[in-house]
Amino acid sequence: MPPQKKNNTLKYMRKVIIVGATSGIGKELALLYARKNSKVGITGRREQLLKECCNYYPEQICYQVCDVTDTQDTVRKLETLVRQLGGMDLLIICAGTGELNPQLDYALEEPTLLTNIIGFTNVADWAFCYFEQQQKGHLAVISSVGGMRGSGAAPAYNASKAYQINYMEGLRQKAAKLPFTIYTTDIRPGFVDTAMAKGEGLFWVIPVAKAAKQIEKAISRKKEIAFVSKRWKYVAKVLRLLPSFIYYRM
Ligand SMILES: NC(=O)c1ccc[n+]([C@@H]2O[C@H](COP(=O)([O-])OP(=O)(O)OC[C@H]3O[C@@H](n4cnc5c(N)ncnc54)[C@H](OP(=O)(O)O)[C@@H]3O)[C@@H](O)[C@H]2O)c1
Repeated sequence: MPPQKKNNTLKYMRKVIIVGATSGIGKELALLYARKNSKVGITGRREQLLKECCNYYPEQICYQVCDVTDTQDTVRKLETLVRQLGGMDLLIICAGTGELNPQLDYALEEPTLLTNIIGFTNVADWAFCYFEQQQKGHLAVISSVGGMRGSGAAPAYNASKAYQINYMEGLRQKAAKLPFTIYTTDIRPGFVDTAMAKGEGLFWVIPVAKAAKQIEKAISRKKEIAFVSKRWKYVAKVLRLLPSFIYYRM
């Protein structure tokens, strides 16, 4: 038997980068992957929170501070993380933002567009090209059930999530034409108990630990699309089929 298989410390460790892991789903996923013996690189703007996350598994988690809306700096920081980890097998885009904005204040919409569209596209493109070069890899994004229909309460947020859903479909089509396998997973949560779950009348809100477990499972099963929790799949179907004259009254 080769020495790597006898010695656990030399065993191959999966290298995972999580973009947007200072809090919420990204942080929970970082800790989950570390528990599962992966090496994890995390990013976000709040350095103190990144440090605290690393302190749980200092041997396994490392970080780089970056704002995804600064596209050039983000690529530099991702390249540094890849060097720190010694490679990359999986990249998960969790960075996202959104505000309730029924008054259509553009100042509130702009950060959502810059983060969820510009920042997301920059990271997704960089990761896909990296995986293309190494002829394998897995790209996942946390989009949202919100991306299934427009929203009068949070128009930019839902539209940005629809963009991510559509973009991931484009990448799936591109990947299908390659002579090697690049996996892509579009995770569409309903409501998860984090700072992002905003507004009145939220229902079926699940704890972030439960969401992270379901997300990790969907990614490990190489699902193309996964709803979290699963019951949101049926809500999404109904939402797609609902005639506009009913939807507008909701
Ligand atoms: N919670 C829900 O109910 C729910 C439902 C559907 C989809 N989602 C999606 O899940 C993803 C994660 O959200 P969450 O619920 O875990 O909320 P969260 O705790 O607020 O996490 C958002 C993460 O995104 C990072 N981020 C935001 N803007 C950034 C920027 N400009 N540059 C770099 N990082 C940035 C934040 O880090 P810093 O602030 O430190 O930069 C933070 O780590 C989001 O894309 C969200 O749309 C959430």
